[in-house]
Amino acid sequence: MTRGLRRLAQAVLALLWASGAAWLVLHHWGQRAGAFGPEPSAAEPWALRAHGVAATATVALLGLLYGLHVAPGWRARRRRRSGGALFGTAVALALSGDLLYYLADEDARAAVALAHWAVGLAGLPLFVAHRWRRERRHPELVSGSTEPKEPPPLSQPRRGS
Ligand code: HEM
Ligand code: HEM
Repeated sequence: MTRGLRRLAQAVLALLWASGAAWLVLHHWGQRAGAFGPEPSAAEPWALRAHGVAATATVALLGLLYGLHVAPGWRARRRRRSGGALFGTAVALALSGDLLYYLADEDARAAVALAHWAVGLAGLPLFVAHRWRRERRHPELVSGSTEPKEPPPLSQPRRGS
């Protein structure tokens, strides 16, 4: 992954997660007293708008990452478990997010919303675990060294192949 793509991915994912979490906080604890009882915070719709923009950008990012990162990583058999879990989580979030727009039944929408944000919140530790995962030693890359060493990034050709 190039540095530019990594920065872009991290910025988009940070906005996505922060806007989802902000909506949750504002929705549950940010109500204010209005003339006719408690009213939603004025910032709540803005959090959801930011989330909608970030969600669209995330889906585009996933398409980009699929070709540049996911498929090559999978073929190289590196970080398959954490990467696969992260990719599956992202697809589940995109599908449940879309359902939130179209589900009319209130109970069904509430259930999908709960699943959506619970999986969404859990996505952060999953991302951290994937992003900073220490890889198993690759003996062909550490000749003469006993130190465990990270293999080169996916975008660079592997030495000796
Ligand atoms: C690929 C990732 C994601 C996509 C495509 C996505 C998409 C969406 C969409 C389309 C909505 C409906 C917006 C509306 O009703 O106007 C939504 C709502 C929401 N999302 Fe996400 N989202 C994603 C990830 C996340 C994450 C990581 C979190 C948590 C940190 C999160 C938390 C929420 C919350 C709390 C709502 C509002 C639920 C409600 O209306 O009851 N989402 N999301
Ligand atoms: C099956 C799916 C995936 C596989 C096999 C995979 C594999 C890898 C590997 C091998 C690395 C080590 C660094 C490199 O060689 O580039 C890595 C790093 C990384 N992955 Fe994934 N990945 C997958 C899915 C994802 C997804 C869905 C995301 C984002 C939502 C993601 C984000 C990252 C980031 C930000 C890094 C750090 C990049 C760096 O250090 O330059 N990966 N992944």
